[in-house]
Amino acid sequence: MLSSLYSPLVSTGHFHCHNHHQNHLSPPSTLASPPCLYQRGKETRSVITLSSDSMELCGVDSEGKQFDSVQEMWREEIGEEGDETRKTQWYRDGVSYWEGVEASVDGVLGGYGHVNDADIIGSEVFLKTLMEERLVNGGANQHLVALDCGSGIGRITKNLLIRYFNEVDLLEPVEQFLDAARENLATTGSETHKATNFFCIPLQEFTPAAGRYDVIWVQWCIGHLTDDDFVSFFNRAKGCLKPGGFFVVKENNAKRGFVLDKEDHSITRSDPYFKQLFRRCGLHLYRTKDQKGLPEELFAVKMYALTVDTPPKIHRTRSKTQSNRPQIIK
Ligand SMILES: C[S@@+](CC[C@H](N)C(=O)[O-])C[C@H]1O[C@@H](n2cnc3c(N)ncnc32)[C@H](O)[C@@H]1O
Repeated sequence: MLSSLYSPLVSTGHFHCHNHHQNHLSPPSTLASPPCLYQRGKETRSVITLSSDSMELCGVDSEGKQFDSVQEMWREEIGEEGDETRKTQWYRDGVSYWEGVEASVDGVLGGYGHVNDADIIGSEVFLKTLMEERLVNGGANQHLVALDCGSGIGRITKNLLIRYFNEVDLLEPVEQFLDAARENLATTGSETHKATNFFCIPLQEFTPAAGRYDVIWVQWCIGHLTDDDFVSFFNRAKGCLKPGGFFVVKENNAKRGFVLDKEDHSITRSDPYFKQLFRRCGLHLYRTKDQKGLPEELFAVKMYALTVDTPPKIHRTRSKTQSNRPQIIK
């Protein structure tokens, strides 16, 4: 997460993934304060083997511990399947971490408040193209509604979403952040572009209202969810998109496998890991784009646009075999 925008890591020692002996890589081990954005380059490396949908991922945590599989990591963090006590504790610890953070742009960006502009510009370019392509007349003359998930203090709503949507709902489990969002947004927008609902609830417990949203924006917060809750959230949220609507997931990417942050209780997933989960959600990856202009030391950040519908197959007029045959040049 941005939390991987979340916590800066300093690398020491060597990392060896037991499954893949050719990889001896440097792990992060010490957390430097203030926790927030993870540093790229210093990220511990892990290995992934991909065979269609079954994927073995190994990774590390922020203290340098190595995991041979993601299952091993989750077992350690949240216990065996059905262990609700451990899972509840994982979520409680995540929220507690954020409760100790200042309700400011710098706070939610882990001391990297200065990346706000680059982030918003990158998001705006991505969003505009998607709206033009996906919404009827690019959304002109329609009443558009967005949901800002894990909204923090309302940074994304205030700087971006409120300009494009008539209504924005914010979801955020940390009360002090949501209060700050309410305050920050009180003087932003207008009668026709406003923040409407402020839901103080975590994503894993939230079911959005059916058919309400054109866009569901999920940025720098999904790393707090376990894989099963990730899949379950998107499955519930699918029915809350209007026709043509889409999800935007904007998250830190681990180079390989995953990186577990023991401090804020989140996981930074790699691109193949995200794609595997999107497949499990039955979502179509409509477009993806890298965020540019972030400091070198941070994790790479990717934007994913996801839709419920799959685009219609293009029917070829000539078969591939035919077109590969020698032909007379006219
Ligand atoms: C790095 S901040 C990002 C905030 C905001 N998305 C932004 O980009 O400005 C991470 C946010 O995720 C929220 N969060 C933590 N656990 C969550 C959960 N289970 N469900 C939803 N949000 C969560 C935190 O409270 C915090 O506001």
